[in-house]
Amino acid sequence: MNARTSNIITIARALAHYPRVIPFLLRGREAANMKLAEEQIRRLRRRHLISGSVDDPLEIFRLSATLTSADTAMLNDNAFLLPLVERIKPAKVVETGVSKGVSSAFILAALGAKDDLYSIDLPNKNYVLDSGAEWSDALPSNMRIGSVVPHTLRNRWHLLLGDSRRVLSPLLDALGEIDFFFHDSEHTLDCMLFEYREAWKHLRPGGLIISDDIDWSPAFDQFIRETGAPHARVKCRNSEKGAVLKPPLPAASKLRKSCLAERT
Ligand SMILES: C[S@@+](CC[C@H](N)C(=O)[O-])C[C@H]1O[C@@H](n2cnc3c(N)ncnc32)[C@H](O)[C@@H]1O
Repeated sequence: MNARTSNIITIARALAHYPRVIPFLLRGREAANMKLAEEQIRRLRRRHLISGSVDDPLEIFRLSATLTSADTAMLNDNAFLLPLVERIKPAKVVETGVSKGVSSAFILAALGAKDDLYSIDLPNKNYVLDSGAEWSDALPSNMRIGSVVPHTLRNRWHLLLGDSRRVLSPLLDALGEIDFFFHDSEHTLDCMLFEYREAWKHLRPGGLIISDDIDWSPAFDQFIRETGAPHARVKCRNSEKGAVLKPPLPAASKLRKSCLAERT
């Protein structure tokens, strides 16, 4: 089957699952994709994918990534972020790599009313992969950055445009501590390691780094060796995703911290 036939089959399947998207096709690709994101968010919210008895963040990641892989039609397989973020309940989230905005839409849909998402993107980036092949992240000409993010979710969304190597560190310095980081920008060893290391410095104990496409470079494995942190990986339909958990403070050191705070 060639790529064009497989695209047509994917679109037909998506429309069969989400018939309310069909009238939006007449308004163009952006409108249809935004409607599809809204419909997927509604459908995922109705399904209680993860049992309330599971509270290990890495297990919640594994279940989210595995159980949503059937819901990836037409958009991409970042729908797993909705059940994951809903259960983890982070207050400050940073992501790199927005493109049309699928991950941003699912994260925003899952955040609480007072929580914020900070997204960084350098639109239409071309770069050389570690394999030596050239890669283009060009958006289709009829789509804009973040265009699938429903308008109702945009009030807690902060979009910063620029190379993550330039924009991420000042953003993290301004935010102080973050609860959750999602990498989906440039999948080279250099950029992935840079982002993981920067995010780690600012991640609170108990927080998570999630990365898309960990099989594109050795960065994830190298980072795991560096930190020795608990981690998990899941092969989804179109990508391999990884999660790293910053170990929570042991009860004794939490106690010591609060005693010190009382004394000062
Ligand atoms: C795979 S797409 C992101 C997909 C998105 N997370 C989603 O779920 O729809 C990667 C995006 O990262 C951007 N990008 C690539 N290299 C970057 C860099 N060094 N800094 C910031 N953004 C970058 C690309 O232009 C593209 O928009």
